[in-house]
Amino acid sequence: MTSAHNGNHAAYFAFRDELLGPLRAVMLTGQQLCEAGRLLHARPEGLSLYGIPAPEMELRGIQLLGRTAIESVTDSHAAAVAAAAAEVCPPGGNAMIVDLFCGSGNFGLHLGRRLGRPAYASEIDPDVYRATRNNLHKIGDSTLELNQLDYRALLATLPSRSDHDIYAVEPPWGPAFTAAGLDLTRTSPPVREIIDDIRRSRNGRPCLVAIKTNDQTAHDSLARCFTDAQHLRSLTPRPTLPPGANMNYHLYRLCPVHGA
Ligand SMILES: C[S@@+](CC[C@H](N)C(=O)[O-])C[C@H]1O[C@@H](n2cnc3c(N)ncnc32)[C@H](O)[C@@H]1O
Repeated sequence: MTSAHNGNHAAYFAFRDELLGPLRAVMLTGQQLCEAGRLLHARPEGLSLYGIPAPEMELRGIQLLGRTAIESVTDSHAAAVAAAAAEVCPPGGNAMIVDLFCGSGNFGLHLGRRLGRPAYASEIDPDVYRATRNNLHKIGDSTLELNQLDYRALLATLPSRSDHDIYAVEPPWGPAFTAAGLDLTRTSPPVREIIDDIRRSRNGRPCLVAIKTNDQTAHDSLARCFTDAQHLRSLTPRPTLPPGANMNYHLYRLCPVHGA
């Protein structure tokens, strides 16, 4: 098999297309999970969720659909973002974590565990929801409350608790992933709309937002989605893939909007 890390970028993009196309709603086999680790994260163990590396997932009963294998925030990235969030948030208090587009749930899980907070998650796709529910059961997790809901419905049930509440925002990219870079005004829904929904659900009370992008955003769209927000940290894990395929993470503080 050709590795994307031998300079064959075509292999990465072909595999990406397969995971988001024909394998989108297909439960991956142990062999396919290892292949995903190799092609997306340089080695089979690079795909690791819930503390379980790809080579062990099948044996441990972990279920991942093709789409989630590529969309998920892996353990090393989620742990790094959670550590950065812990640096800017005081310990204790009654703050919550809300993972709005949770997929595997791994992002919210790490944030909740690292910060010692209750975590709530919404996932709208019934197949992804079922797989994630299975996985949380297999790992015996009771820290992440998983809901099969549209993110707006979850927001409606969760009034603000603290200025340090954290929202994980990672909507599907779809047509936002362009040759010119990731255009966050074209995710579904657009990131700016999600930020406005969060603000409304909190009556403007400050909070933090953690967002994943790739390493090539287009049209200054990240900054445009976070006007009236304070940039706190950006994490840029060592790139191992073609430009546009590596993941970056950003932490913002949403501030009250003047005149709102
Ligand atoms: C990019 S993935 C997020 C991956 C996730 N961060 C992880 O670590 O696995 C986006 C997820 O949001 C879900 N989704 C899409 N629209 C949604 C909505 N309106 N409300 C809740 N979830 C939604 C998709 O089904 C998909 O699983």
